[in-house]
Amino acid sequence: MLTSIKTNELKFESQKIGMMYFRVAIILFGAQLLMGLIAAVQFLYPSFLFEIFDFSVARTVHINALVVWMLYAMIGSVYYMIPDETGREVVAPGIAKLAFWVLTAAVTVVVLVYIFIQVGPGTESSIWLINEGREYLAAPRWADIGIVVVVLVFYFNVFATYLKGERTGIMTVMVANLLALAGLYLAGMGYTDNISMDQYWWWWVIHLWVEATWEVFVGTLAAYALIKIIGAKREIVEMWLWIEVLMLFGSGILGLGHHYFWIGTPEYWWEIGALFSALEPVPLIAMFVHVLYDWGKEQGIAKAKGEPGTVSSNTPAMTWLVANAFGNFLGAGIWGFFHTLPQVNIYTHGTQFTSAHGHLSFFGAYATILIGMMYLAIQGTYGVKRMKSTSLSKWAAFLTMFGVMGMGIALTISGYEQVLVERAELGATWNAFFTAQNLTWMVQGLAWRLVMGVVTFVGFALLVVDLLSIGKNAQAAER
Ligand code: HEM
Ligand code: HEM
Ligand SMILES: [Fe+2]
Repeated sequence: MLTSIKTNELKFESQKIGMMYFRVAIILFGAQLLMGLIAAVQFLYPSFLFEIFDFSVARTVHINALVVWMLYAMIGSVYYMIPDETGREVVAPGIAKLAFWVLTAAVTVVVLVYIFIQVGPGTESSIWLINEGREYLAAPRWADIGIVVVVLVFYFNVFATYLKGERTGIMTVMVANLLALAGLYLAGMGYTDNISMDQYWWWWVIHLWVEATWEVFVGTLAAYALIKIIGAKREIVEMWLWIEVLMLFGSGILGLGHHYFWIGTPEYWWEIGALFSALEPVPLIAMFVHVLYDWGKEQGIAKAKGEPGTVSSNTPAMTWLVANAFGNFLGAGIWGFFHTLPQVNIYTHGTQFTSAHGHLSFFGAYATILIGMMYLAIQGTYGVKRMKSTSLSKWAAFLTMFGVMGMGIALTISGYEQVLVERAELGATWNAFFTAQNLTWMVQGLAWRLVMGVVTFVGFALLVVDLLSIGKNAQAAER
Protein backbone atom coordinates (compact mmCIF):
# COMPACT_ATOMS: atom_id res chain seq x y z
CA MET A 1 0.00 0.00 0.00
CA LEU A 2 2.67 2.47 1.02
CA THR A 3 4.20 2.52 -2.43
CA SER A 4 1.06 4.10 -3.83
CA ILE A 5 1.25 7.08 -1.46
CA LYS A 6 1.81 10.30 -3.39
CA THR A 7 3.64 12.83 -1.27
CA ASN A 8 3.25 15.75 -3.58
CA GLU A 9 -0.06 16.58 -5.14
CA LEU A 10 0.63 20.31 -5.23
CA LYS A 11 0.27 21.81 -8.68
CA PHE A 12 2.09 25.07 -8.08
CA GLU A 13 5.73 25.76 -7.25
CA SER A 14 4.51 28.53 -4.99
CA GLN A 15 2.73 26.01 -2.76
CA LYS A 16 5.81 23.81 -2.60
CA ILE A 17 7.83 26.83 -1.50
CA GLY A 18 5.16 27.43 1.15
CA MET A 19 5.79 23.92 2.47
CA MET A 20 9.53 24.62 2.66
CA TYR A 21 8.83 27.59 4.92
CA PHE A 22 6.44 25.57 7.10
CA ARG A 23 9.08 22.89 7.70
CA VAL A 24 11.63 25.38 8.99
CA ALA A 25 8.92 27.13 11.02
CA ILE A 26 8.07 23.99 12.97
CA ILE A 27 11.75 23.26 13.68
CA LEU A 28 12.25 26.78 15.02
CA PHE A 29 9.06 26.42 17.09
CA GLY A 30 10.62 23.36 18.74
CA ALA A 31 13.85 25.28 19.38
CA GLN A 32 11.81 28.11 20.90
CA LEU A 33 10.12 25.76 23.36
CA LEU A 34 13.38 24.07 24.39
CA MET A 35 14.94 27.46 25.15
CA GLY A 36 11.83 28.43 27.12
CA LEU A 37 12.20 25.28 29.21
CA ILE A 38 15.87 26.06 29.94
CA ALA A 39 14.98 29.62 30.97
CA ALA A 40 12.10 28.37 33.12
CA VAL A 41 14.42 25.93 34.95
CA GLN A 42 16.93 28.74 35.48
CA PHE A 43 14.22 30.86 37.12
CA LEU A 44 13.86 28.17 39.80
CA TYR A 45 17.46 26.92 39.95
CA PRO A 46 19.70 29.84 39.02
CA SER A 47 22.79 27.61 39.08
CA PHE A 48 21.43 25.49 36.20
CA LEU A 49 23.97 25.77 33.34
CA PHE A 50 25.62 28.63 35.23
CA GLU A 51 28.46 30.13 33.17
CA ILE A 52 27.74 27.62 30.42
CA PHE A 53 24.52 28.93 28.98
CA ASP A 54 23.32 32.29 30.19
CA PHE A 55 19.65 32.94 31.06
CA SER A 56 19.76 36.08 28.92
CA VAL A 57 20.76 34.01 25.89
CA ALA A 58 18.10 31.34 26.49
CA ARG A 59 15.55 34.13 26.75
CA THR A 60 16.85 35.90 23.64
CA VAL A 61 16.72 32.74 21.56
CA HIS A 62 13.29 31.84 23.00
CA ILE A 63 11.63 35.04 21.92
CA ASN A 64 13.58 35.62 18.69
CA ALA A 65 12.93 32.07 17.49
CA LEU A 66 9.28 32.83 18.29
CA VAL A 67 9.21 35.87 16.01
CA VAL A 68 11.22 34.15 13.28
CA TRP A 69 9.18 30.93 13.20
CA MET A 70 6.02 32.98 12.98
CA LEU A 71 7.42 35.05 10.11
CA TYR A 72 8.42 31.82 8.34
CA ALA A 73 4.95 30.37 8.79
CA MET A 74 3.42 33.64 7.63
CA ILE A 75 5.52 33.70 4.45
CA GLY A 76 4.73 29.99 3.97
CA SER A 77 1.01 30.73 4.28
CA VAL A 78 1.22 33.51 1.70
CA TYR A 79 3.07 31.35 -0.83
CA TYR A 80 0.59 28.57 -0.16
CA MET A 81 -2.54 30.64 -0.72
CA ILE A 82 -1.38 32.85 -3.62
CA PRO A 83 -2.22 30.34 -6.41
CA ASP A 84 -5.67 29.70 -4.91
CA GLU A 85 -6.48 33.39 -4.65
CA THR A 86 -4.87 34.75 -7.82
CA GLY A 87 -5.41 31.65 -9.96
CA ARG A 88 -1.79 31.57 -11.09
CA GLU A 89 1.76 30.58 -10.26
CA VAL A 90 3.96 33.03 -8.37
CA VAL A 91 5.94 35.10 -10.91
CA ALA A 92 9.48 34.15 -9.86
CA PRO A 93 9.61 30.79 -8.08
CA GLY A 94 13.34 30.37 -8.71
CA ILE A 95 14.26 33.58 -6.91
CA ALA A 96 11.80 32.73 -4.14
CA LYS A 97 13.62 29.44 -3.54
CA LEU A 98 16.99 31.14 -3.55
CA ALA A 99 15.74 33.70 -1.03
CA PHE A 100 14.48 30.86 1.16
CA TRP A 101 17.91 29.21 1.27
CA VAL A 102 19.71 32.49 1.90
CA LEU A 103 17.37 33.35 4.75
CA THR A 104 17.57 29.89 6.28
CA ALA A 105 21.38 29.86 6.12
CA ALA A 106 21.47 33.30 7.76
CA VAL A 107 19.06 32.27 10.54
CA THR A 108 21.17 29.18 11.23
CA VAL A 109 24.37 31.22 11.52
CA VAL A 110 22.70 33.78 13.80
CA VAL A 111 21.34 31.10 16.13
CA LEU A 112 24.70 29.29 16.27
CA VAL A 113 26.42 32.58 17.18
CA TYR A 114 23.83 33.22 19.92
CA ILE A 115 24.35 29.78 21.37
CA PHE A 116 28.12 29.43 21.09
CA ILE A 117 29.43 33.01 21.30
CA GLN A 118 26.58 34.37 23.42
CA VAL A 119 27.94 37.83 24.36
CA GLY A 120 30.39 40.31 22.87
CA PRO A 121 32.60 43.13 24.11
CA GLY A 122 29.86 45.78 23.92
CA THR A 123 31.34 47.60 20.94
CA GLU A 124 30.07 48.27 17.42
CA SER A 125 31.42 44.88 16.35
CA SER A 126 28.99 43.11 18.70
CA ILE A 127 26.07 44.97 17.16
CA TRP A 128 27.22 43.97 13.68
CA LEU A 129 28.15 40.37 14.39
CA ILE A 130 26.38 39.06 17.49
CA ASN A 131 23.26 40.80 18.67
CA GLU A 132 21.64 44.22 18.33
CA GLY A 133 20.29 43.90 21.85
CA ARG A 134 16.68 44.66 20.98
CA GLU A 135 14.17 42.34 22.59
CA TYR A 136 12.39 40.20 19.94
CA LEU A 137 14.52 41.77 17.16
CA ALA A 138 17.97 40.82 18.36
CA ALA A 139 19.43 39.85 14.94
CA PRO A 140 22.92 41.29 14.35
CA ARG A 141 23.08 44.14 11.87
CA TRP A 142 24.41 42.08 8.94
CA ALA A 143 21.42 39.76 9.27
CA ASP A 144 19.11 42.74 9.68
CA ILE A 145 20.15 44.03 6.29
CA GLY A 146 19.93 40.54 4.78
CA ILE A 147 16.39 40.18 6.12
CA VAL A 148 15.39 43.40 4.35
CA VAL A 149 16.75 42.09 1.03
CA VAL A 150 14.98 38.73 1.38
CA VAL A 151 11.73 40.42 2.33
CA LEU A 152 11.99 42.71 -0.72
CA VAL A 153 12.27 39.62 -2.94
CA PHE A 154 9.27 38.10 -1.20
CA TYR A 155 7.23 41.26 -1.53
CA PHE A 156 8.11 41.67 -5.19
CA ASN A 157 6.89 38.14 -5.84
CA VAL A 158 3.61 38.66 -4.01
CA PHE A 159 2.93 42.06 -5.53
CA ALA A 160 3.78 41.10 -9.13
CA THR A 161 1.68 37.93 -8.87
CA TYR A 162 -1.20 39.97 -7.50
CA LEU A 163 -0.99 42.43 -10.40
CA LYS A 164 -0.95 39.67 -13.01
CA GLY A 165 -3.55 37.43 -11.43
CA GLU A 166 -7.10 37.73 -10.17
CA ARG A 167 -7.39 40.47 -7.54
CA THR A 168 -9.64 39.25 -4.75
CA GLY A 169 -10.45 41.42 -1.74
CA ILE A 170 -8.42 39.07 0.44
CA MET A 171 -5.36 39.57 -1.76
CA THR A 172 -5.83 43.34 -1.89
CA VAL A 173 -5.81 43.56 1.90
CA MET A 174 -2.90 41.12 2.01
CA VAL A 175 -0.75 43.10 -0.41
CA ALA A 176 -1.41 46.48 1.23
CA ASN A 177 -0.94 45.10 4.74
CA LEU A 178 2.28 43.27 3.89
CA LEU A 179 3.77 46.53 2.67
CA ALA A 180 3.04 48.14 6.04
CA LEU A 181 4.28 45.07 7.91
CA ALA A 182 7.58 44.93 6.03
CA GLY A 183 8.07 48.70 6.11
CA LEU A 184 7.68 48.81 9.89
CA TYR A 185 10.71 46.56 10.29
CA LEU A 186 12.83 49.51 9.16
CA ALA A 187 11.75 51.50 12.23
CA GLY A 188 13.65 49.09 14.47
CA MET A 189 16.90 49.25 12.52
CA GLY A 190 18.25 52.65 13.43
CA TYR A 191 20.57 53.08 16.37
CA THR A 192 20.81 55.81 18.97
CA ASP A 193 22.52 56.08 22.35
CA ASN A 194 19.36 57.56 23.84
CA ILE A 195 17.44 54.66 25.39
CA SER A 196 14.11 56.55 25.34
CA MET A 197 14.39 57.22 21.62
CA ASP A 198 15.53 53.69 20.97
CA GLN A 199 12.55 52.24 22.82
CA TYR A 200 10.22 54.70 21.14
CA TRP A 201 11.05 53.35 17.65
CA TRP A 202 11.48 49.76 18.77
CA TRP A 203 7.83 49.75 19.92
CA TRP A 204 6.79 50.80 16.43
CA VAL A 205 7.88 47.41 15.21
CA ILE A 206 6.67 45.29 18.09
CA HIS A 207 3.36 46.92 18.86
CA LEU A 208 2.45 47.91 15.30
CA TRP A 209 3.21 44.37 14.24
CA VAL A 210 1.31 42.37 16.82
CA GLU A 211 -1.54 44.79 17.43
CA ALA A 212 -2.08 46.09 13.90
CA THR A 213 -0.40 44.51 10.87
CA TRP A 214 -0.14 40.94 12.16
CA GLU A 215 -3.76 41.04 13.32
CA VAL A 216 -4.87 42.12 9.85
CA PHE A 217 -2.59 39.49 8.35
CA VAL A 218 -4.19 36.66 10.31
CA GLY A 219 -7.55 38.15 9.36
CA THR A 220 -6.69 37.46 5.71
CA LEU A 221 -5.59 33.93 6.60
CA ALA A 222 -8.78 33.27 8.53
CA ALA A 223 -10.89 34.58 5.64
CA TYR A 224 -9.06 32.34 3.16
CA ALA A 225 -9.14 29.30 5.45
CA LEU A 226 -12.84 29.67 6.28
CA ILE A 227 -13.67 29.70 2.57
CA LYS A 228 -11.51 26.61 2.02
CA ILE A 229 -12.65 24.60 5.02
CA ILE A 230 -16.33 25.29 5.54
CA GLY A 231 -17.17 27.06 2.28
CA ALA A 232 -17.82 30.42 3.97
CA LYS A 233 -19.23 33.08 1.67
CA ARG A 234 -16.52 35.30 0.24
CA GLU A 235 -18.61 38.50 0.52
CA ILE A 236 -19.13 37.93 4.23
CA VAL A 237 -15.56 37.13 5.23
CA GLU A 238 -14.25 39.96 3.06
CA MET A 239 -16.68 42.43 4.59
CA TRP A 240 -15.41 41.54 8.06
CA LEU A 241 -11.88 41.78 6.85
CA TRP A 242 -12.41 45.37 5.73
CA ILE A 243 -14.10 46.27 9.00
CA GLU A 244 -11.20 44.72 10.88
CA VAL A 245 -8.72 46.74 8.84
CA LEU A 246 -10.59 49.91 9.64
CA MET A 247 -10.94 49.28 13.35
CA LEU A 248 -7.62 47.65 14.15
CA PHE A 249 -5.56 50.14 12.26
CA GLY A 250 -7.49 52.91 13.96
CA SER A 251 -7.18 51.75 17.56
CA GLY A 252 -3.96 49.78 17.11
CA ILE A 253 -1.92 52.73 15.85
CA LEU A 254 -2.67 55.19 18.65
CA GLY A 255 -2.90 52.31 21.13
CA LEU A 256 0.89 52.36 20.74
CA GLY A 257 0.68 54.90 23.54
CA HIS A 258 0.34 52.13 26.16
CA HIS A 259 4.07 51.48 25.72
CA TYR A 260 4.99 55.14 26.07
CA PHE A 261 3.78 55.55 29.65
CA TRP A 262 7.13 55.13 31.43
CA ILE A 263 9.92 55.47 28.91
CA GLY A 264 10.46 59.21 29.13
CA THR A 265 7.97 60.35 26.48
CA PRO A 266 5.58 63.29 27.17
CA GLU A 267 2.70 62.67 29.57
CA TYR A 268 -0.04 63.20 26.98
CA TRP A 269 0.60 59.59 25.99
CA TRP A 270 -1.16 58.53 29.21
CA GLU A 271 -4.52 59.73 27.90
CA ILE A 272 -3.94 58.76 24.27
CA GLY A 273 -2.61 55.31 25.17
CA ALA A 274 -5.36 54.66 27.70
CA LEU A 275 -8.24 55.60 25.42
CA PHE A 276 -7.15 54.01 22.17
CA SER A 277 -5.61 50.84 23.51
CA ALA A 278 -8.74 50.25 25.58
CA LEU A 279 -10.67 50.30 22.29
CA GLU A 280 -8.41 47.65 20.77
CA PRO A 281 -10.33 44.65 22.06
CA VAL A 282 -13.52 45.91 20.33
CA PRO A 283 -12.76 44.41 16.88
CA LEU A 284 -11.50 41.26 18.57
CA ILE A 285 -14.75 40.88 20.43
CA ALA A 286 -16.80 41.72 17.32
CA MET A 287 -15.01 39.04 15.35
CA PHE A 288 -15.51 36.53 18.13
CA VAL A 289 -19.21 37.26 18.48
CA HIS A 290 -19.66 37.09 14.73
CA VAL A 291 -17.93 33.72 14.41
CA LEU A 292 -20.11 32.24 17.16
CA TYR A 293 -23.26 33.82 15.78
CA ASP A 294 -22.70 32.53 12.25
CA TRP A 295 -21.86 29.11 13.53
CA GLY A 296 -25.00 28.91 15.65
CA LYS A 297 -27.19 30.24 12.84
CA GLU A 298 -25.85 27.76 10.32
CA GLN A 299 -26.33 24.87 12.68
CA GLY A 300 -29.89 26.05 13.36
CA ILE A 301 -30.74 26.22 9.64
CA ALA A 302 -29.20 22.81 9.04
CA LYS A 303 -31.12 21.32 11.95
CA ALA A 304 -34.41 22.71 10.61
CA LYS A 305 -33.68 21.02 7.32
CA GLY A 306 -32.70 17.81 9.08
CA GLU A 307 -29.12 18.04 7.81
CA PRO A 308 -25.94 17.44 9.81
CA GLY A 309 -24.70 21.05 9.38
CA THR A 310 -21.60 22.31 7.61
CA VAL A 311 -19.14 19.53 7.11
CA SER A 312 -15.64 20.76 7.69
CA SER A 313 -13.17 19.56 5.08
CA ASN A 314 -10.29 19.80 7.51
CA THR A 315 -11.21 19.31 11.17
CA PRO A 316 -7.75 19.73 12.70
CA ALA A 317 -7.28 23.04 10.83
CA MET A 318 -10.77 24.12 11.93
CA THR A 319 -9.97 23.22 15.55
CA TRP A 320 -6.95 25.53 15.49
CA LEU A 321 -8.95 28.25 13.75
CA VAL A 322 -11.61 28.20 16.45
CA ALA A 323 -8.81 28.19 19.03
CA ASN A 324 -7.54 31.31 17.29
CA ALA A 325 -10.83 33.15 17.72
CA PHE A 326 -10.94 32.26 21.44
CA GLY A 327 -7.20 32.69 22.01
CA ASN A 328 -6.98 36.09 20.37
CA PHE A 329 -9.90 37.31 22.43
CA LEU A 330 -8.51 35.91 25.67
CA GLY A 331 -4.78 36.60 25.32
CA ALA A 332 -4.87 39.95 23.55
CA GLY A 333 -8.38 41.19 24.36
CA ILE A 334 -8.81 40.21 28.02
CA TRP A 335 -5.23 39.88 29.29
CA GLY A 336 -4.24 42.96 27.24
CA PHE A 337 -7.08 45.10 28.54
CA PHE A 338 -6.29 44.10 32.14
CA HIS A 339 -3.08 46.13 32.23
CA THR A 340 -3.56 48.73 29.53
CA LEU A 341 -4.76 51.68 31.60
CA PRO A 342 -1.88 53.70 33.08
CA GLN A 343 -3.54 53.56 36.51
CA VAL A 344 -3.15 49.77 36.43
CA ASN A 345 0.00 49.57 34.37
CA ILE A 346 1.98 51.62 36.88
CA TYR A 347 1.73 48.55 39.14
CA THR A 348 1.84 45.74 36.59
CA HIS A 349 4.50 47.11 34.21
CA GLY A 350 7.17 44.52 33.51
CA THR A 351 5.89 41.98 36.05
CA GLN A 352 5.12 38.31 35.38
CA PHE A 353 1.69 39.60 34.52
CA THR A 354 3.16 41.04 31.32
CA SER A 355 4.73 37.66 30.62
CA ALA A 356 1.35 35.95 31.10
CA HIS A 357 -0.17 38.31 28.55
CA GLY A 358 2.80 37.80 26.18
CA HIS A 359 2.40 34.01 26.24
CA LEU A 360 -1.37 33.91 25.94
CA SER A 361 -1.53 36.52 23.19
CA PHE A 362 1.29 35.29 20.97
CA PHE A 363 0.02 31.76 21.27
CA GLY A 364 -3.68 32.54 21.06
CA ALA A 365 -3.58 35.06 18.25
CA TYR A 366 -0.76 33.70 16.12
CA ALA A 367 0.57 30.23 16.90
CA THR A 368 -2.92 28.74 16.65
CA ILE A 369 -3.86 29.99 13.20
CA LEU A 370 -0.41 29.32 11.78
CA ILE A 371 -0.65 25.70 12.95
CA GLY A 372 -4.08 25.60 11.28
CA MET A 373 -2.49 26.77 8.03
CA MET A 374 0.05 23.95 8.30
CA TYR A 375 -2.76 21.40 8.47
CA LEU A 376 -4.38 23.04 5.47
CA ALA A 377 -1.14 22.89 3.49
CA ILE A 378 -0.67 19.22 4.38
CA GLN A 379 -4.16 18.46 3.12
CA GLY A 380 -3.18 20.05 -0.21
CA THR A 381 0.18 18.32 -0.31
CA TYR A 382 -1.45 14.89 -0.06
CA GLY A 383 -4.43 15.83 -2.21
CA VAL A 384 -6.90 14.79 0.48
CA LYS A 385 -10.57 15.81 0.07
CA ARG A 386 -11.57 15.57 3.72
CA MET A 387 -9.01 15.48 6.49
CA LYS A 388 -10.37 14.39 9.85
CA SER A 389 -8.73 14.90 13.24
CA THR A 390 -6.95 11.79 14.45
CA SER A 391 -6.73 11.02 18.15
CA LEU A 392 -3.17 12.31 17.87
CA SER A 393 -4.41 15.64 16.45
CA LYS A 394 -6.81 15.95 19.35
CA TRP A 395 -4.24 15.14 22.05
CA ALA A 396 -1.71 17.46 20.43
CA ALA A 397 -4.20 20.33 20.34
CA PHE A 398 -5.49 19.67 23.85
CA LEU A 399 -2.08 19.36 25.55
CA THR A 400 -0.54 22.34 23.75
CA MET A 401 -3.50 24.60 24.55
CA PHE A 402 -3.87 23.30 28.10
CA GLY A 403 -0.14 23.78 28.68
CA VAL A 404 -0.07 27.37 27.45
CA MET A 405 -3.25 28.25 29.37
CA GLY A 406 -1.69 26.70 32.46
CA MET A 407 1.48 28.74 32.01
CA GLY A 408 -0.60 31.88 31.57
CA ILE A 409 -2.57 31.27 34.74
CA ALA A 410 0.53 30.37 36.78
CA LEU A 411 2.29 33.54 35.62
CA THR A 412 -0.79 35.63 36.36
CA ILE A 413 -0.72 34.40 39.96
CA SER A 414 2.99 35.18 40.25
CA GLY A 415 2.36 38.57 38.68
CA TYR A 416 -0.46 39.29 41.11
CA GLU A 417 1.84 38.58 44.03
CA GLN A 418 4.47 40.84 42.49
CA VAL A 419 1.95 43.66 42.09
CA LEU A 420 0.69 43.39 45.66
CA VAL A 421 3.96 42.80 47.49
CA GLU A 422 6.73 44.21 45.37
CA ARG A 423 4.90 47.20 43.92
CA ALA A 424 2.04 48.18 46.25
CA GLU A 425 3.26 47.10 49.67
CA LEU A 426 7.03 47.47 49.45
CA GLY A 427 7.18 50.36 46.99
CA ALA A 428 8.96 48.89 43.96
CA THR A 429 12.49 49.18 45.31
CA TRP A 430 15.35 46.89 44.30
CA ASN A 431 15.00 45.13 47.67
CA ALA A 432 11.27 44.75 47.17
CA PHE A 433 11.93 42.97 43.90
CA PHE A 434 14.06 40.29 45.55
CA THR A 435 11.73 39.90 48.52
CA ALA A 436 8.82 39.33 46.16
CA GLN A 437 10.81 36.91 44.00
CA ASN A 438 11.29 34.61 46.97
CA LEU A 439 7.74 34.52 48.32
CA THR A 440 5.81 31.27 48.09
CA TRP A 441 3.18 32.47 45.62
CA MET A 442 5.83 33.64 43.22
CA VAL A 443 7.96 30.51 43.47
CA GLN A 444 4.98 28.18 43.18
CA GLY A 445 3.69 30.11 40.18
CA LEU A 446 7.06 29.77 38.48
CA ALA A 447 7.17 26.05 39.32
CA TRP A 448 3.73 25.55 37.77
CA ARG A 449 4.87 27.47 34.73
CA LEU A 450 7.63 24.91 34.32
CA VAL A 451 5.25 21.97 34.77
CA MET A 452 2.83 23.45 32.26
CA GLY A 453 5.75 24.21 29.93
CA VAL A 454 6.57 20.50 29.91
CA VAL A 455 2.92 19.73 29.11
CA THR A 456 3.10 22.25 26.25
CA PHE A 457 6.23 20.57 24.97
CA VAL A 458 4.63 17.12 25.01
CA GLY A 459 1.69 18.59 23.07
CA PHE A 460 4.12 20.06 20.57
CA ALA A 461 5.93 16.72 20.12
CA LEU A 462 2.60 15.01 19.37
CA LEU A 463 1.75 17.82 16.98
CA VAL A 464 4.93 17.18 14.99
CA VAL A 465 4.18 13.44 14.79
CA ASP A 466 0.64 14.20 13.67
CA LEU A 467 1.74 16.72 11.03
CA LEU A 468 4.16 14.14 9.66
CA SER A 469 1.63 11.33 9.49
CA ILE A 470 -1.89 12.67 9.08
CA GLY A 471 -1.68 13.47 5.35
CA LYS A 472 -0.28 10.09 4.41
CA ASN A 473 -2.88 8.22 6.46
CA ALA A 474 -5.78 10.32 5.18
CA GLN A 475 -4.67 9.74 1.59
CA ALA A 476 -4.39 6.00 2.12
CA ALA A 477 -7.86 5.93 3.66
CA GLU A 478 -9.40 7.91 0.79
CA ARG A 479 -7.94 5.88 -2.06
C1 HEM B 1 -2.11 39.50 19.54
C2 HEM B 1 -1.91 40.68 20.02
C3 HEM B 1 -0.90 40.97 21.08
C4 HEM B 1 0.32 40.41 21.32
C5 HEM B 1 1.02 39.29 20.56
C6 HEM B 1 0.88 41.11 22.47
C7 HEM B 1 2.11 40.82 23.02
C8 HEM B 1 2.72 41.54 24.01
C9 HEM B 1 4.02 41.28 24.57
C10 HEM B 1 4.94 40.15 24.16
C11 HEM B 1 4.27 42.23 25.49
C12 HEM B 1 5.53 42.35 26.35
C13 HEM B 1 6.52 43.19 25.65
C14 HEM B 1 7.81 43.30 26.44
O1 HEM B 1 8.58 42.35 26.42
O2 HEM B 1 8.01 44.35 27.10
C15 HEM B 1 3.12 43.10 25.54
C16 HEM B 1 2.98 44.21 26.36
C17 HEM B 1 1.80 44.87 26.54
N1 HEM B 1 0.59 44.62 25.90
FE1 HEM B 1 0.27 43.32 24.44
N2 HEM B 1 -0.01 42.04 22.90
C18 HEM B 1 -1.11 42.00 22.09
C19 HEM B 1 -2.26 42.75 22.21
C20 HEM B 1 -2.52 43.64 23.22
C21 HEM B 1 -3.76 44.38 23.40
C22 HEM B 1 -5.00 44.25 22.51
C23 HEM B 1 -3.58 45.16 24.50
C24 HEM B 1 -4.53 46.11 25.18
C25 HEM B 1 -5.80 46.05 25.13
C26 HEM B 1 -2.22 44.95 24.98
C27 HEM B 1 -1.65 45.60 26.05
C28 HEM B 1 -0.32 45.50 26.39
C29 HEM B 1 0.32 46.36 27.39
C30 HEM B 1 -0.33 47.47 28.19
C31 HEM B 1 1.65 45.96 27.46
C32 HEM B 1 2.76 46.56 28.35
C33 HEM B 1 2.95 45.72 29.56
C34 HEM B 1 3.94 46.33 30.51
O3 HEM B 1 3.86 47.54 30.77
O4 HEM B 1 4.80 45.61 31.04
N3 HEM B 1 -1.62 44.01 24.19
N4 HEM B 1 2.16 42.65 24.64
C1 HEM C 1 7.71 25.10 26.80
C2 HEM C 1 6.94 26.11 26.97
C3 HEM C 1 7.46 27.48 27.36
C4 HEM C 1 8.24 27.84 28.42
C5 HEM C 1 8.77 26.93 29.52
C6 HEM C 1 8.47 29.26 28.33
C7 HEM C 1 9.25 30.00 29.22
C8 HEM C 1 9.56 31.33 29.11
C9 HEM C 1 10.44 32.08 29.98
C10 HEM C 1 11.18 31.50 31.17
C11 HEM C 1 10.48 33.35 29.53
C12 HEM C 1 11.27 34.52 30.15
C13 HEM C 1 10.34 35.27 31.04
C14 HEM C 1 10.95 36.41 31.79
O1 HEM C 1 11.99 36.94 31.40
O2 HEM C 1 10.36 36.78 32.82
C15 HEM C 1 9.59 33.45 28.41
C16 HEM C 1 9.31 34.60 27.71
C17 HEM C 1 8.44 34.66 26.65
N1 HEM C 1 7.82 33.60 26.01
FE1 HEM C 1 7.82 31.69 26.61
N2 HEM C 1 7.82 29.76 27.25
C18 HEM C 1 7.20 28.68 26.62
C19 HEM C 1 6.41 28.75 25.48
C20 HEM C 1 6.08 29.90 24.82
C21 HEM C 1 5.12 29.97 23.75
C22 HEM C 1 4.33 28.78 23.17
C23 HEM C 1 5.05 31.29 23.39
C24 HEM C 1 4.20 31.94 22.33
C25 HEM C 1 3.71 31.35 21.29
C26 HEM C 1 5.98 32.03 24.23
C27 HEM C 1 6.19 33.39 24.17
C28 HEM C 1 7.00 34.10 25.04
C29 HEM C 1 7.12 35.56 25.02
C30 HEM C 1 6.37 36.51 24.09
C31 HEM C 1 8.02 35.91 26.03
C32 HEM C 1 8.45 37.32 26.44
C33 HEM C 1 7.48 37.77 27.51
C34 HEM C 1 7.73 39.14 28.08
O3 HEM C 1 8.76 39.75 27.81
O4 HEM C 1 6.86 39.62 28.80
N3 HEM C 1 6.59 31.15 25.07
N4 HEM C 1 9.03 32.19 28.16
FE1 LIG D 1 0.91 47.13 22.57
